Amino acid sequence: MILNDKNQNNTINEELINSYDNEYIFSNKPINRIKTNPKTGDKISLLQNLKDQISNIDNCDLKKNASKIVFNDGSLNSPIMIVGEGPGQKEDNLGKPFVGDAGHLLNKMLNAINIKREKVYITNVVNYRPPNNRKPEPVEINRYSDFLKKHISIIDPKILILMGSTAMEALFGYKIKISKERGLWKEIIINNKTYITMITFHPAYLLRQPDQKKCSWADLKEIRKKIDELKLTI
Ligand code: URA
Repeated sequence: MILNDKNQNNTINEELINSYDNEYIFSNKPINRIKTNPKTGDKISLLQNLKDQISNIDNCDLKKNASKIVFNDGSLNSPIMIVGEGPGQKEDNLGKPFVGDAGHLLNKMLNAINIKREKVYITNVVNYRPPNNRKPEPVEINRYSDFLKKHISIIDPKILILMGSTAMEALFGYKIKISKERGLWKEIIINNKTYITMITFHPAYLLRQPDQKKCSWADLKEIRKKIDELKLTI
């Protein structure tokens, strides 16, 4: 145990020690020590609040050109959160992420490791369809990454899966290349919490480059292995 200097009565250095452990709160005060996960009801209202914030975004070319917001799909309490790039035409029509061709491939990829799509939580970096399905501009990615980080904190997943370079850039910046970074477990700290993260190819990219599916399959097997190691119920 890490203690402050002797003059302070063996007071625990709370700030430091709490930065190491996410499940247990160290404190010398009589407090509730077990950190509880956000309750489903809290998540619903926090998500609604976040959705409202995004809906109120000003001066956004994405919002101006899209027909509606595409916010999320899946289970709010899932240990797995998937982040894609942004809605396409079908998603813009239906208001739901990953429901077009890329979405069908995503469903198959999840099925291949015994996960039903409805058991994961899915969102995108940008919540409005980019005109002509263009890649979001860096300034748009940066702007929406603030919302994305809030979104991740609310869902609080055990494993974060970033699909494609836009999702990677939103959280890890522009200095890295997906071809080098995919398939590796990384840690990212968001609002003082560390998330285990895997970057992998986007299903739309796999539809254009089917020879890359073998890499993707290796990543999926790694994800399955981690789920089993962490004994996650999914
Ligand atoms: N591609 C994405 O990144 N997200 C979607 O929702 C659909 C296609």
